[in-house]
Amino acid sequence: MKPLVIVKLGGSVVTRKNEPFTPNTPVIEQVSKEVSELLRDYSLILVHGGGSYGHVVASEYRIAEGYLQPSQLIGLSRVKLRMNELTQLILASLASHSVPAVPVTPVSCLTCSSGRIESFFTEPLRMMLSLGLVPLIPGDIAMDSSEKRFTIVSGDQLSSFLAVRLGAVKLVYGTDVDGVFTGDPRLDPNASLIPRLRRSMLSGLTATLRAGDVTGGIYRKIEEGLYAAEKGVKVMIGNLTRPDALSLMITDESSIECTILEAG
Ligand code: IPE
Repeated sequence: MKPLVIVKLGGSVVTRKNEPFTPNTPVIEQVSKEVSELLRDYSLILVHGGGSYGHVVASEYRIAEGYLQPSQLIGLSRVKLRMNELTQLILASLASHSVPAVPVTPVSCLTCSSGRIESFFTEPLRMMLSLGLVPLIPGDIAMDSSEKRFTIVSGDQLSSFLAVRLGAVKLVYGTDVDGVFTGDPRLDPNASLIPRLRRSMLSGLTATLRAGDVTGGIYRKIEEGLYAAEKGVKVMIGNLTRPDALSLMITDESSIECTILEAG
């Protein structure tokens, strides 16, 4: 089988984060085109985030906090409605570029405990990959065996879990900035890109990295990524809103600015 690469398309890549329920159509199209070319040499799993589709509704109903009151239940349904819309848009774009993608919805094949994946029936994914299909997996709601009873499973957690479980050679976290910076590059002109990041460097990073959405922003992404890096997967965080960035990160990583997560 061709080497497996897992790509997380962050919400900031596939949606316009500040405009509710708005896809970033040109970027989705560009990524679909690149994926169709990458399939000649790689097996791919695409995971996508919620961006302006999932997070708004998930925070409105406090889904990530688990079960608090019955009025949240319709919120689970509304998160699915919105996330299905986004998955459908990405699927349509991939199909228009002849990418044989199949959506796989995590709530139906995994359970969590206290927000962490505890069991995941991955056999269908293995069978899809061996056929040459491209599983398309959204961050999702999930049932939780702890007293939470339900949770949100982020695309970041799904990606690193699957990278380790399925033996991916590479995991690409796509976002709308070039990687991890010493501060917020949009607010701080002195912030510089960290080309290689290890767990021991985390405590020195500013608190701005911790701010973010219902699933924890970039700090959480780094934590998830380090889990896979420490198990031997090459993990990169980079800017997939740039044309050809996805292809370069997968085929020629030294030619593009990004952050590589390292064990140690
Ligand atoms: C969140 O997925 C999914 C839902 C809110 C249902 P992610 O946490 O992976 O989304 P982004 O990439 O940060 O937007």
